[in-house]
Amino acid sequence: MNTQLSTSVVQPDLFSPVQIGSYTLKNRIVMAPLTRMRADENNIPTNMSRIYYQQRATAGLIITEGTQISPQGAGYPNTPGIYNHDQVKAWRQITDSVHAQGGRIFLQLWHVGRVSYPGIQLNDEPPVAPSAIKAEGDYVKPRALEPAEIDDIIYDYWRASENAFAAGFDGVEVHAANGYLIDQFLRDSTNKRTDQYGGSYKNRARFLFEVLHAVISVWGSERVGLRLSPTNPFNSISDSNPEELFEYIVERLNPLDLAYLHIVEGGLLSPDTTEKEPLFDPRTLRNIYDGPYMANNGYSKGSAKKAIKNDSADLVSFGDLFISNPDLPERFLRNAPLNKTDLDSRYGGNEKGYIDYPSLNLALA
Ligand SMILES: Cc1cc2nc3c(=O)[nH]c(=O)nc-3n(C[C@H](O)[C@H](O)[C@H](O)COP(=O)(O)O)c2cc1C
Repeated sequence: MNTQLSTSVVQPDLFSPVQIGSYTLKNRIVMAPLTRMRADENNIPTNMSRIYYQQRATAGLIITEGTQISPQGAGYPNTPGIYNHDQVKAWRQITDSVHAQGGRIFLQLWHVGRVSYPGIQLNDEPPVAPSAIKAEGDYVKPRALEPAEIDDIIYDYWRASENAFAAGFDGVEVHAANGYLIDQFLRDSTNKRTDQYGGSYKNRARFLFEVLHAVISVWGSERVGLRLSPTNPFNSISDSNPEELFEYIVERLNPLDLAYLHIVEGGLLSPDTTEKEPLFDPRTLRNIYDGPYMANNGYSKGSAKKAIKNDSADLVSFGDLFISNPDLPERFLRNAPLNKTDLDSRYGGNEKGYIDYPSLNLALA
C-alpha cells in the first residue's frame, strides 16, 4: 500500500478540494462577507464591484458582502440590495465575471433590523426589531414587528432568494450573525416577545428556521449556508445562555443538511462595543454539527492550516486578508508576503483600497 498516497487522501490541507452541498470547491480558502459600501446611491453594485469580485475568484468560494433583502433591511448607505430588477442585472454581471474565472460565489442575505436609522428607511420610519429595544450608541429605538410583518419579511427573504437565483449566484448565505435582525430574534436581550417568536429557545429560533425554509424552498438546502456568531457582542447583542441556545440551534440544523455552517468564533472588535470574555468556545459547536464547518475570525495561513489538519474546520474564511490580497490562495501557496489593509478605505470610497491592491507578478514564477 502506498502510505504517502493514503496519508494525502485522509489529511486534507487548505488547498485540497472540499465538497459543500452540491459543489466541489477547488480549495478551502473562502472569502468572508465584507461590506465595502461601494454600491451606487440606489443600492446597485457598480462595475467597480464586478472587478473587485473577479479579482478574488481564486478563492474556493466567495461570499458577497451583506446584501439587503428589502429597502427596510438597509443599515448603511451604499450597500447593495437584491430586491429589484436593476440590482439583479448588476449582480448578474458580477456572477458572470466570477464564473468566467472559474470561481464560485454565494450571496449573503441581510436584514439589519434595529441597526439602522430613519434617514435610511423609507419615509424616515424608525427601524424594526423583534422588540422595541435600542442598540447601544447612536441609534434610535426601533419599532417592534407585528406578527403579519414578520410574514412579510419572510416573504422578502423568499423573493430575494428568487432574485439571487436569477442573478446567477451559486447559492446564498443567510446572515444570522453580528447582531442583525435574525440574531436579534435569537437573543433574550433583544427579544422580549410574548408570542410564538419569543420566550423559549424554540420560539426565539422560529424566525431563523422560517427564513431558512423560505430560502431552501428556492435553492435546495445543498446551496444554502448559514452564518452565526454565538459569542460576538457586536451591535450590543448578548444572551443569558448563549451556549445552550446555540447548541439547540445547531442540533436542529443537522437534519437540514445545509451546504455549510459558518461560525464567527470569538468576537469582532468594534469601537461601539467592549470586547467581553467569550462565555464559551463556539468551536465546540463543530463537534455537534454533522455537515461542513467553516471557521472565521482572525485566522492566518498558519492557524487555518492547523485547523484543517486538526479537523477543527473543513473550510476557513478570511476577511481582512482578502481585502488587501486579491490572490490570497496564490500567496498562501507560495509563502509570498501579504499586502496590509488600509483601514481608511475599508468602508466607502472609490477604487483606492478596493480594486488597486496588487496581485503577485506571475511573470516572476
Ligand atoms: C470591512 C468589513 C466588512 C464586513 N462586512 C461583513 C458583512 O457584510 N457580513 C458579515 O457577515 N460580516 C462582515 N464582516 C466580518 C467579516 O466577515 C469577518 O467575520 C471578520 O473580518 C473577521 O475575519 P478576519 O479576521 O479574517 O478578517 C466585515 C468585516 C470587515 C472588516
